[in-house]
Amino acid sequence: MTFNSSELLEQIGELPEDWHGCGSVSHKVLQAIADHAQETAPIYHSVETGAGKTTLLFSQLSQSHLVFAVDAGMSITRVRESPLLNGQHVTFLEGPSQRTLPRYEFTHKVQIALIDGPHGYPFPDIEYYYFYQLIETGGLLLIDDINIPTIGRMFEIIKVDDMFDLIDIVDNTAFFKRSVNPMFPPEEDGWWLQGFNREHYNRTFGGFRLTKLALRKTYEFKVGGSGLPLLKSGFSLPESQLVWTNGPKAVMAFEMPQFKNDLELSVTAYPFAPPTLGDDQSCEVYLNDNRIATWRLIGLPVWRRQFRKLWPNNKPFTAIIHENLVRPGEIFQLSFKFNKLTSPKQVGHSGDSRLLGLAFERLSLGPASSDPRMKSMGSFLKNMLRR
Ligand SMILES: C[S@@+](CC[C@H](N)C(=O)[O-])C[C@H]1O[C@@H](n2cnc3c(N)ncnc32)[C@H](O)[C@@H]1O
Repeated sequence: MTFNSSELLEQIGELPEDWHGCGSVSHKVLQAIADHAQETAPIYHSVETGAGKTTLLFSQLSQSHLVFAVDAGMSITRVRESPLLNGQHVTFLEGPSQRTLPRYEFTHKVQIALIDGPHGYPFPDIEYYYFYQLIETGGLLLIDDINIPTIGRMFEIIKVDDMFDLIDIVDNTAFFKRSVNPMFPPEEDGWWLQGFNREHYNRTFGGFRLTKLALRKTYEFKVGGSGLPLLKSGFSLPESQLVWTNGPKAVMAFEMPQFKNDLELSVTAYPFAPPTLGDDQSCEVYLNDNRIATWRLIGLPVWRRQFRKLWPNNKPFTAIIHENLVRPGEIFQLSFKFNKLTSPKQVGHSGDSRLLGLAFERLSLGPASSDPRMKSMGSFLKNMLRR
């Protein structure tokens, strides 16, 4: 930090508790903000809701700080008048954040965001919606007043969200760090992918549960289907007949069965392959790090879908799993990676903005037909029939 943070903190600490009429964060919290900011530095852009002592600190920590606040308790006036404010670094967006935030067009990611504006439900949640999209990987999200029950609930939700890691709690202020995990799409659904809902999803829909795959068993991917425990990530909610992949990668996970020879994976699935995507749309299939197949996805447009009727001879997609890849008892990830994706919304079919790849209906694993034991079984059957 180029400025003397301890001197500034001391000076802010000398301001009376009722310096403005809305209540400020404690000296300990200001110190923790300065310390965590130092680890995150440089702070090019930051943002907060509410104004006060934190604004004075951010005006020195950050090169460009946005403040969404109203002047309740003269909290903005006091900040503006203070000689401790580095006014060149601060822009005030005055007005209720419920109104100013949705209208504001952010042009930069931020390294720090603080939520400490209106505290009634659901206002901090609204602010979180705009802020989580802005925070860059490694950046900080600070939430004050987690002792207020509604804010405490938001804290519990974010605590188990893949996007954030809780790194500190000082007094009633929580400090989260943005993880490398992808941003939760802000204009879609996906509640079942969020940590706070995962247990409920698993209980209600029978979501991912480590399963030992049985040979020759057909796993179905519909509501209540036996295949649902295999779905680990990248899938939508199951529908009455099938489940769609959503996004560039979908992963199933399971334990492999005991078997000595090559296996054949067989999948009944339907691609979302509108003509705009061309003929080279494909799905690469990986067992752990080994590519075991590349499936070409050519389908009739799904908006005329009547799956069985449109694909009367739809053959299952298959992949051979060589015996040297299979280690019984180990957990395997079966990944489906899509090279081109689009959504029904993008092609003007509906408002559905999911990036659909394949709709899975069934999956089974059996001995590969080239397996010598199967061949001998085949000739045994043939001989039987000849008799
Ligand atoms: C608890 S104070 C913020 C304290 C500040 N972080 C500090 O450490 O001094 C709450 C702030 O939120 C502002 N506020 C209240 N309702 C608001 C609203 N609807 N929109 C934006 N700001 C609001 C208040 O004017 C005040 O600036």
